Amino acid sequence: MKKITYIIILFTLLLSSGCSIHEASGKTPDYRPLVIAHRGASDLEPEHTLSSYKKAIKDKADYIEIDLEETKDGQLVAIHDDSVDRTTNGTGYIRDLTLSQIKNLNLAKGEKIQTIEEIIKTFKLSTKYYIETRENKNGQITMEKQLVKILKKYNLIDRNKVIIESFSEKSLKKIHSLDSNIPITRLIRTQEVRDIDDKALKNISKYASTIGIKAKLANPTILKKAHKHDLKLHVYFTNSDKSNNEGKLIKSCYKIKVDGVFTNNPASAISKLPKQTK
Ligand code: G3P
Repeated sequence: MKKITYIIILFTLLLSSGCSIHEASGKTPDYRPLVIAHRGASDLEPEHTLSSYKKAIKDKADYIEIDLEETKDGQLVAIHDDSVDRTTNGTGYIRDLTLSQIKNLNLAKGEKIQTIEEIIKTFKLSTKYYIETRENKNGQITMEKQLVKILKKYNLIDRNKVIIESFSEKSLKKIHSLDSNIPITRLIRTQEVRDIDDKALKNISKYASTIGIKAKLANPTILKKAHKHDLKLHVYFTNSDKSNNEGKLIKSCYKIKVDGVFTNNPASAISKLPKQTK
């Protein structure tokens, strides 16, 4: 038999047996966590601006992360805080301002706060969206129906282009009830991570596919516990909390092999990946 025929038969047999080339060669498949641009490439451009999202997409982030707040007139806008004070030239809570009042304000570099629909219309299917919902100040959930309607309008669920995240279990369960095909990440606060047990993780796994925690809390034990319940582990960094600083922690997160990182600088996060995964 000619050498080339022999190679073709061998590969056909390997593929039909479900065995990957990595497994066949005895090599471990490459480790490549999801790279999620936290508030866009927010170390390089002002957070939640179109520039920060564009930079993240250019720098090959898998997802752009978008925090949502609801305006007085019920529009879903991309901003982290519940007020415009820190990131714009105005003042006031989002819930007390109409969209048109918000559009009169400037973010850094003169950019405007965007609605979620405007962001999706701008980037369409060229990226994936990792969207955070919140409860309102009275602990009620109000954004979910409108959000899912928008995701459906732009085919983001069918095309596997979206993940929804929240610290609010109530909000995530609502999203899951509206469409169980939407991948969900349950964010877990520091004090809860420390005592999370099998029962809690089993409950989370009924509606979510991932848990999100501060990077400084990531370790092989919590990763193993999450995986035991088929939950992935994504980690985030904060500039305000020096002990949870991205520069210090990202390599140790890669060493543990977390499943995803919310990075403030996607290009830098990708450059720090272990060599064989680039
Ligand atoms: O998205 C994960 C992480 O961003 C949650 O924290 O405060 O940035 O919304 P925060």
